[in-house]
Amino acid sequence: MTEDFDVRLVEDVKSYTPDPQYRKNAWMGDYQKVYNEFLANPDAFWEKMAKELDWIKPWDKVKEWNYPYAKWFTGARLNVSANCLDRHVHNSRRNKVALIWKGEGGSEQIFTYQKLLSQVARFANALKKIGVKKGDTVCIYMPLVPEQVIAMLACARIGAVHSVVFGGFGAAALNMRIKDADAKVVITADITIRRGKAIQLKAIVDEAIINAPTVENVVVLRRREPKVDLHEKEMDFYEMMEGMPDVCPPEEMDAEDRFFILYTSGSTGKPKGIVHTCGGYMVGTYYTSKYIFDIKDNDTFWCTADPGWITGHSYIVYGPLAVGATVFITELTPDYPDAGSFWNLVEEQKITIFYTAPTAIRMFMKMGESWPNKYDLSSLRIIGSVGEPLNPEAFEWYYRVIGKSRTPIVDTWWQTETGMHMITTMIGETMHPGFAGKPIPGVEADVVDKDGKPVKPGTGGLLVIKSPWPAMLRTVYKDDERYRKYWETIPGVYAVGDLAVKSDDGYIMILGRSDDIIIVSGHNIGTAEVESALVSHNAVAEAAVIGKPDVVKGNSIKAFVILRVGNAPSDRLKQDLLHHVRTTLGPIAMPHEIDFVDKLPKTRSGKIMRRVLKAQEMGMDPGDISTLEE
Ligand code: PRX
Repeated sequence: MTEDFDVRLVEDVKSYTPDPQYRKNAWMGDYQKVYNEFLANPDAFWEKMAKELDWIKPWDKVKEWNYPYAKWFTGARLNVSANCLDRHVHNSRRNKVALIWKGEGGSEQIFTYQKLLSQVARFANALKKIGVKKGDTVCIYMPLVPEQVIAMLACARIGAVHSVVFGGFGAAALNMRIKDADAKVVITADITIRRGKAIQLKAIVDEAIINAPTVENVVVLRRREPKVDLHEKEMDFYEMMEGMPDVCPPEEMDAEDRFFILYTSGSTGKPKGIVHTCGGYMVGTYYTSKYIFDIKDNDTFWCTADPGWITGHSYIVYGPLAVGATVFITELTPDYPDAGSFWNLVEEQKITIFYTAPTAIRMFMKMGESWPNKYDLSSLRIIGSVGEPLNPEAFEWYYRVIGKSRTPIVDTWWQTETGMHMITTMIGETMHPGFAGKPIPGVEADVVDKDGKPVKPGTGGLLVIKSPWPAMLRTVYKDDERYRKYWETIPGVYAVGDLAVKSDDGYIMILGRSDDIIIVSGHNIGTAEVESALVSHNAVAEAAVIGKPDVVKGNSIKAFVILRVGNAPSDRLKQDLLHHVRTTLGPIAMPHEIDFVDKLPKTRSGKIMRRVLKAQEMGMDPGDISTLEE
């Protein structure tokens, strides 16, 4: 799918150049100079970054590349939590604020680096006491509270592999992830609080651990009074920590030891357990937090993601804490108690770096600029975006209304698989709305055709990464074949799965996915996952799912359903199907529209041609339909 895109896409491009002070004061300095240094000696570039961190034993080699397998910092020993906590506690940041959390009703929690380290150590000791050892998998399914961050860092401390599952997933999705990862312990909370309402989380866990025999214990953060009863195998988060020492020696990890698993949607019904390792991931997220966000000691950094996504792993927890930043997080939503909620927090906390998603920016646009205009946003110095293309209209609005036509926007392109930022416009460089930017120093990217040949500027093609980078995924858990596919689809390079176009001067515009993944409000949803959830309903014979452009969400999900004989289409059945998807996969995967149909367009070999459905839906030419069955 590399048709020529209309070259007008890269004409009439606007430019915004930030005040030269930005570049002058940025850690990165001159992008081109640093990029050339990287190209001249990639290993030396990464070695210099790695040396800024603490290692128990240094590496023998920076990189071993046996296509398609990479090892980074081989032979080195380290602990990521020690770099995120002890490194700062042992220097002048001991009493610096590491984490600020705001909840509803004005509740607030503040952790200095020392306090965070003590809590992490106590919880790590508690996990050890219930038998969690290096290499065991712990599933974390929690709301956006400090205890989620503590649980992650405690796993890192003892070498347990965490698999964080976003708290918005349903029971079947959670069950699949617990089982695939062989989780020994699940850490959860009784409730999550959304817009003033308590949503039961533990009830979902209760259902998800049926048929999950590896689970030995469930740890519950009990937020509600009176406290929920605990059953056999269940223990209270804070009671476990009582009497635990606040010192826990960090486990010595090999740079290539598994660090965490994080599930992401693929083009089959089964999500992929993306595996990251300790050394390379730490260096990659540290480097990008420092140089892309330009975090300085007096910044207050707010990334609005949930730690349950890669954005939260890399840019709430590991990257910013490795840098020694002050990180702000909140369980509050942007529209509650009113549409000024986030801007109120920016003013109150004097946020300096703000990182969010295009879907949120488009929602802010819809709610109107009078909301942000009520608050003093002058503390902001850098604003960022991630998760899907930041369309020029949204860029302009974000730049003008939030950035006051002053702050640079870092539109960062990356993935769960890449672990770290890969493409952006570096602080101080000229920004072009619609274009994410250029590959960052450390990354070689290009836009190619399906044979791997670079396409002409202005022509659409496939985005690829041409050489390994430290924070790259090492495998797909229990499915290495799916890992190799990333590097074998286009021989010699990592195929990202996105369509892109490059301008004459090397700026990359991301056009969207080239596969069966739909990005809805910044969340990756596999069409196959939603289809199999629909088909698991006893009234459904077959289902096909497509993404439709949506002005706020980026895409919305439309499902076409063929009913089994004996079932008649009705509104009630539609509601029932929606409820079914909601409880199995979770609210984020619910279709926005369902059509009952008699037939689906298929190839002669029986594959559903979603492309044809999408073209039909949007009144477009379906393209080549020679493989369509009669
Ligand atoms: O399609 C790209 C889109 O999100 C995909 C990766 O999704 P996920 O693994 O969930 O990670 C999201 C957060 C890093 C990419 O293949 N994407 C991510 N960032 C951008 C983007 N598309 C356009 N512009 C971006 N800045």
